[in-house]
Amino acid sequence: MSDALLELKNVWVEYGDKVVLERVNLAIAPGSFVSVVGPSGAGKSTFLRLILGQEAPTKGSILLDGAPMRAECGPDRGVVFQRYSVFPHLTVLGNVLFGLECAGAPVLGRLFGARRRAAVADAEAMLDAVGLSHARDQYPAQLSGGMQQRLALAQALVKHPRVLLLDEPFGALDPGIRVDMHELVTRLWREHGLTVVMVTHDIAEAFKLGTRVLAFDKRRHDPHAPHRYGATATYDVPLLRKISASS
Ligand SMILES: Nc1ncnc2c1ncn2[C@@H]1O[C@H](COP(=O)(O)OP(=O)(O)OP(=O)(O)O)[C@@H](O)[C@H]1O
Ligand SMILES: [Mg+2]
Repeated sequence: MSDALLELKNVWVEYGDKVVLERVNLAIAPGSFVSVVGPSGAGKSTFLRLILGQEAPTKGSILLDGAPMRAECGPDRGVVFQRYSVFPHLTVLGNVLFGLECAGAPVLGRLFGARRRAAVADAEAMLDAVGLSHARDQYPAQLSGGMQQRLALAQALVKHPRVLLLDEPFGALDPGIRVDMHELVTRLWREHGLTVVMVTHDIAEAFKLGTRVLAFDKRRHDPHAPHRYGATATYDVPLLRKISASS
């Protein structure tokens, strides 16, 4: 038995004759903060979609707690993208409440009384944790980019997922705001005991935040058929200093 939270065993992703990921074998320990780097098109977002359960591998298997992964929208995983994670027609509070719903299974519209009050209290606590209480009734268009990403984090975390997936979450933000977001994500990771998988183009960010850095790239390349081979984890760097510092 492995004590990994997530395990990928010989995972391949192919679109038609195009191989995007090949032979991905990884185990992700609970509580780790995995940074994922690699060139554009290496399959980093595809890798996140696999873990999110939005996409199934062409071959191989993905295990969560040793069992085959369930379909999307379980309470296990929350996700934040670079942009467009939040809904423009919902208020800040409405967006966080929406995080409690599952696609295709709206529950809050039907929540009344004590259950609804409890959901609102949870959402407000999450807004407080990300520093957005004051913006509770505003709409995303009224928020700065950094505030929108704080909101996206609150929306992802209100379900208390075990795994938080971040796809270049700070890529569109100014450097000063990024530093604030680094502090926030590090604090949320520690306080919520999360396992984080974060894709970034920023190598310094990858090493600053991660307890482990994974690089995806192609190991082999056919110049006459660039789609023939896929990428895999070519480097896997544990940052031991941090692991011991945080345990
Ligand atoms: N649904 C799909 N159908 C066909 N090809 C796809 C599909 N999704 C992704 N791809 C291809 O898979 C490859 C990897 O895409 P992916 O978005 O995972 O890369 P990435 O590493 O996240 O890149 P970036 O750094 O630019 O975000 C790309 O060549 C892309 O065109
Ligand atoms: Mg991507």
